[in-house]
Amino acid sequence: MPDDYGCLPNEAYTDPAYFEQERRTVLSSTWQFAGRASAVPDPGDMLPTSVAATPVFLVRQRSGEIAAFYNVCPHRGAKVLPKPCKSAKTIICPYHTWSYNLDGTLRRRPHFDGADNHDVARDDDGVERPSLWRVRAEVFMDWVFLNLDGNAEPLSTQLQPLVDKLEGYDFANCVYGGELTFDVRTNWKLAHENFLDILHKIGIHPELQKSSPIQTNVRYEWLSDDLAISHHTVEEPFEGRGEGLPGLPGFPESMRRLGLSAHIYPNANLQLWDGQLTLFSCTPLAPDHTIETFSVYFAEEAMGEQHRAHRDAVFEMWRHLNEQDIEPLIWMQEARNIPVFNGGSFSPYWDEMIAKYVEKLKTDTRGFISSMTQAAGSERS
Ligand code: FES
Ligand SMILES: [Fe+2]
Repeated sequence: MPDDYGCLPNEAYTDPAYFEQERRTVLSSTWQFAGRASAVPDPGDMLPTSVAATPVFLVRQRSGEIAAFYNVCPHRGAKVLPKPCKSAKTIICPYHTWSYNLDGTLRRRPHFDGADNHDVARDDDGVERPSLWRVRAEVFMDWVFLNLDGNAEPLSTQLQPLVDKLEGYDFANCVYGGELTFDVRTNWKLAHENFLDILHKIGIHPELQKSSPIQTNVRYEWLSDDLAISHHTVEEPFEGRGEGLPGLPGFPESMRRLGLSAHIYPNANLQLWDGQLTLFSCTPLAPDHTIETFSVYFAEEAMGEQHRAHRDAVFEMWRHLNEQDIEPLIWMQEARNIPVFNGGSFSPYWDEMIAKYVEKLKTDTRGFISSMTQAAGSERS
């Protein structure tokens, strides 16, 4: 590991100004997981969600495509979609009932020019009306990712090295099995770093260390600037990994006893075993507040009633492992308020992945130096 690799300072995990800088830079310039395509299966289905601590919503179009918009009304800034909605014909802002077509164009402004004097949009009336603000969306498998600044390389390009690595693994034929969410008082980076931290299983997850010891772990390997994978060997059967379930479609024979973990920069992670595939994402809400989502998929043949107990075991495993993780995540968040600690120190072997990850974050937050750091620097000089 290069000598100049260093941890992020405490304030990167606590300072609202740093968080704001992240929202404007790395969280806007990358693909952020927003929700499942299967959560909006029919035209007019809509789902409010959040990326980069910014309210957005997804709308299934009549064409089948999924569109995303900022969840803000161009009139007075109310939330146009406070709750999920099924099979809507239009999007109606609840505050003054302006309505929009599913493509975000304005349709009707009741009483706009006085009581009972409505503004109704017609194609040929030549009036310029505000539309909802669209956000760039791309779907991979069942996952809708958004890119707020619109300039990221295509998501499919980012993920292609993983698709190549999996030798034709059939992502499209996995079936959604369920979801777990956790509301955690920690910074989004700590939650993501925890998934890159292989070593903590010896302290926090003894059952994982028993079934797939760190001695079998191959460290993360970067496939590109924003994608890395690692794997371990499942030495002892562990039901929650998907044991007993029909295998996933196209799973490479060479990987039947392996568990694969893929880091999708900056805050998503794919976990893959023979019997299950899980997307883990960390949605930042505030410097010390993150929503973790586990979206779990199985082979279609695993969805029958006779496999229910094995599927339940997978959710139980994720719930249990995550409950084991949450307390350390809170400890590490609290540590960022202890002045003698400033980011920690890395193991040159196991923490190399986290070190590289935070180096990239430093670059992508454009060398943010907060007023606290500047003040400390000027005191020293
Ligand atoms: S704020 Fe949406 S209609 Fe007024
Ligand atoms: Fe863990």
